[in-house]
Amino acid sequence: MSKFQHWLMTLIWIAAWIIGFIAVHFRDELNGHHQLTILHKALASTVIFLTALRIVWRLTHSVPPLPASMSPAMQRLAHLGHYALYAIALIALPLSGWIWSSVADKPIMMLGLVHLPALVAPAPKYYGLAKTVHQFLAWSIGLVVLAHAGAALKHHLVDKDGVLTSMLPGRVPRK
Ligand code: HEM
Ligand code: HEM
Repeated sequence: MSKFQHWLMTLIWIAAWIIGFIAVHFRDELNGHHQLTILHKALASTVIFLTALRIVWRLTHSVPPLPASMSPAMQRLAHLGHYALYAIALIALPLSGWIWSSVADKPIMMLGLVHLPALVAPAPKYYGLAKTVHQFLAWSIGLVVLAHAGAALKHHLVDKDGVLTSMLPGRVPRK
């Protein structure tokens, strides 16, 4: 369940990032009727609810320890990175998008089905600020996600310690 959820959220998160990017930077060519913006919001807004489920799961289940071959400093760094992913990529970033759409008085239809209520009242004078915050978070945490994927690949290719393969379906938790 937890591995499946990690990969499902990875898929949604990366797709949402790319669609958000194309929506903004290829607006004239590909986003003439805001279709990509609508798709971005429909997909990305699920992240915060999936994260709430994930946090409940994390609080009620223990997770496998990191390999003993990792120094205590590296283990602390890995945990810090995971906290940053939770706090920024999975909570602050979707919340900032939700606030931006609320400030702009634009609807969010989660998966095209559920209309999310506005988090704050419409406020045109904060439009620019809300936009900058969402863009800044998207770009800065995008780099952290790249580093996270890079670290997972390094465990696999350089350290050969089973961290990445333990995330594959059907593998027993590593010792
Ligand atoms: C409730 C959730 C979210 C809402 C309502 C939302 C809303 C928006 C909106 C309205 C845009 C501008 C699109 C346009 O102008 O056509 C945007 C851009 C963007 N969003 Fe989101 N977003 C949400 C979550 C996320 C998440 C989870 C990610 C990361 C996976 C993300 C990444 C981006 C990126 C990369 C851009 C383009 C930034 C740029 O380069 O200017 N958003 N978002
Ligand atoms: C290709 C992309 C990715 C790869 C290869 C990858 C790989 C991994 C691996 C191997 C772990 C397990 C680390 C451990 O056992 O301690 C992990 C955990 C984690 N990943 Fe990813 N990941 C990717 C994308 C993402 C994305 C996009 C996010 C969120 C935006 C994310 C968030 C997390 C979090 C929060 C954890 C800690 C899990 C927990 O403690 O509940 N990952 N990832």
